[in-house]
Amino acid sequence: MRRYMVAGNWKMNMGPAAGRELAAGVAGMLKGRTLRGDVLVCPPYVSIPAVGEVADGNPVLLGAQNCADQTGGAYTGEVSVGMLKEVGVQYVIIAHSERREYQRETDSQFVSKINLILEAGMKAIFCFGEVLEDRKAGRAEEVVRKQLEGVLPRLENANAYNLVLAYEPVWAIGTGETATPEMAQEIHAASRAIVAELMGAEVAEYLRILYGGSCKPGNARELIGQPDVDGGLIGGAALKPADFVGIIDGAEATLD
Ligand code: 13P
Repeated sequence: MRRYMVAGNWKMNMGPAAGRELAAGVAGMLKGRTLRGDVLVCPPYVSIPAVGEVADGNPVLLGAQNCADQTGGAYTGEVSVGMLKEVGVQYVIIAHSERREYQRETDSQFVSKINLILEAGMKAIFCFGEVLEDRKAGRAEEVVRKQLEGVLPRLENANAYNLVLAYEPVWAIGTGETATPEMAQEIHAASRAIVAELMGAEVAEYLRILYGGSCKPGNARELIGQPDVDGGLIGGAALKPADFVGIIDGAEATLD
């Protein structure tokens, strides 16, 4: 049985003050509850320490949205995994479609970053997913295969516990348009089969694959209830405590 994960990707929202308030709101709503899955929030770099103070003593884990592909040195504007670890980060999101598109990040960079994360004893959330044009042309699975094949075989020491995958169909991100549970399940099952080919059957069985793209309280239970959907990577709905906790409730409900 895979433990569900609900991860909030705050993107470029919430400075330290607003982030602390949001995290306190979530923590307040979760107070006294025992969660049967993993919940984390990924604030912008500068807000991580403030959010970490709030998260102290509550079940919400800390993540980051990116890291450098080098350990340190003359890389202006970059932040290393060592620095993230020092401020309490346990998970790092890599290869989000927004970074693929706006920063033109490549498979080689994803591989370097994930290997550094794992080497530091942290965990990576590797994102993949097709754009609308590919979906319309019936190429979704082909694109996903290419994205997974470009990275997974090149990882060192990745396993089902330090790596999480996140399927995020680009056309569903921030658009209000969600993949149907059937569409999500189809790609998740195909991705798991690809993971089995590339990393072995045991890793594929235990590896968590999250869904991301307009996930909200109203659709979380049905999406996360699909056999190969192990949780959600949440954008917009992670910015309001009630919505984020509503999605956690949806994930919990799949276990009842
Ligand atoms: P939305 O939930 O806002 O669609 O964003 C999804 C996402 O990109 C999470 O990483």
